[in-house]
Amino acid sequence: MKKTEIIPIYDPTGDAAGVCRAAELLRQGGLVAIPTETVYGLAADAFNPRAVQEVYAAKGRPSDNPMIVHIAELAMLEQVASSLPENALRLAEAFWPGPLTMVLPKTEKVPAVTTGGLESVAVRMPSDGVARAIIRQAATPLAAPSANRSGSPSPTTCRHCIDDLWGRVDAIVESHDCTVGVESTVVSLCGDVPVILRPGAVTPEQLRHVVGEVTIADAVLHMLPEDAAAPSPGMKYKHYSPNARLQLVHGSQWGYIDYVNRKAEEARLHGEEAGIYAMCFDEDIRRLEVPTISYGVTDDYALQAAQLFDVLRQLDKLGAKTVYVHAPEPEEIGLAVYNRLLRAAAFDVVEL
Ligand code: TXA
Ligand code: MG
Repeated sequence: MKKTEIIPIYDPTGDAAGVCRAAELLRQGGLVAIPTETVYGLAADAFNPRAVQEVYAAKGRPSDNPMIVHIAELAMLEQVASSLPENALRLAEAFWPGPLTMVLPKTEKVPAVTTGGLESVAVRMPSDGVARAIIRQAATPLAAPSANRSGSPSPTTCRHCIDDLWGRVDAIVESHDCTVGVESTVVSLCGDVPVILRPGAVTPEQLRHVVGEVTIADAVLHMLPEDAAAPSPGMKYKHYSPNARLQLVHGSQWGYIDYVNRKAEEARLHGEEAGIYAMCFDEDIRRLEVPTISYGVTDDYALQAAQLFDVLRQLDKLGAKTVYVHAPEPEEIGLAVYNRLLRAAAFDVVEL
C-alpha cells in the first residue's frame, strides 16, 4: 500500500503550492491523478520508464496498451514526435489545447514502455488549467491514461479516483469535476488519410472541416473479430464494464419505454424483477415502470457525455443487475457516448 496524499488545486494560481507539490512528486518518479477537461488522468513522467511501468501496475492495465503523452505547449511536441505532417500542425492549431489526441511517429527519447512497444506516440495538449500548470511546473511531458482501475468506467470526479486508486498512487489532485466527461478523440496521422481510432468531443465533421478526408476505424462501432489486429490496442480490451449486464436500446422514446416495460413485466412473472434499471433520458422517466437513472436529455449529447461515467458507477453502487440503456444518437459527441456504451454493453444492442 502506498500512502496516498490529497492535493487540493482548484485554481492553478491561487493553489500554486499544490501545483508545486504535484510537480515535485512527478519529477521524483511518483504517480499523481490529475484533472483534465475530459477525464482524470493518472500521470507519470513520460520519460521515466520505471514510473510509467508503475502506472500500468497501479491501474492493472495490460502493458501493450499505450499511454497518451500530455504536453503543455507546442515546444514540448518536438521532444516526443519525430515528424509533424502538415495535417498534424493544422489540427494542433485548430483544436489544441483541447480534447484531441494525435498519434504520430515517436522520438527516441520516448521509452518503449510509454508507447506499449509501438513506434508511434499518442500526444495531447489538454485545455484544463490545472493540468497545464502541473505539466509546466513538472517541465516534462506526462504519460497519463485515464485514472481508473483497468476495466472500470473512466473517472470524472476526484471521488472516482479515490474509489479506484487509494493506496495505489502517491497523490490525487482534488479539483473540479471534468467538464467534457468522455475521453479525447484519438486520431492517427501515421498514414495518408487521418483515421479516428476513438471518437470524442472533437467530432469527425470538425476534423474534416480542417483536414478534408478523415476515416473512422471499423472498431469504433463494431466488434473486432477475434483474430483482427487492432489499429489501437485499447480497442481490444473490455472497457467501462459495470457489474450489471447492460443492453443498449436504440429507438424512439415510446419504443424504448414500451420495450423496457414489457421486459420488466416478463421478469416480474418469473419473480426476477429485482435489480432491473432503466438508464434513460429525463423525458422517459415518467412512463417507465422500473427504477430509473437519467443521464441527460434526448438532444443534449454534451450533457449525456458529462454524466455518462458517473451514472455507470452509480449503477454499480445501486447493485443493478440488468440495465436497459436508452441509446443516444451516434452523431456529434453522441458518437463518443454511443461508442462507450457499446463497449459497456459488450455490443448487446437492440434496434427497435
Ligand atoms: O481524454 C483522454 O484521452 C484521457 C485524459 C487523461 O487525457 N486519457 C485517456 O487515456 O483516455 P487512455 O490510456 O485511457 O486511452 C488511450 C487510448 C487507448 O485506447 C490506447 O490504445 C490509444 O489511446 N493509444 C495510445 N497510444 C497509441 C498509439 N501509439 N497508437 C494507437 N493508439 C494509441
Ligand atoms: Mg482508459
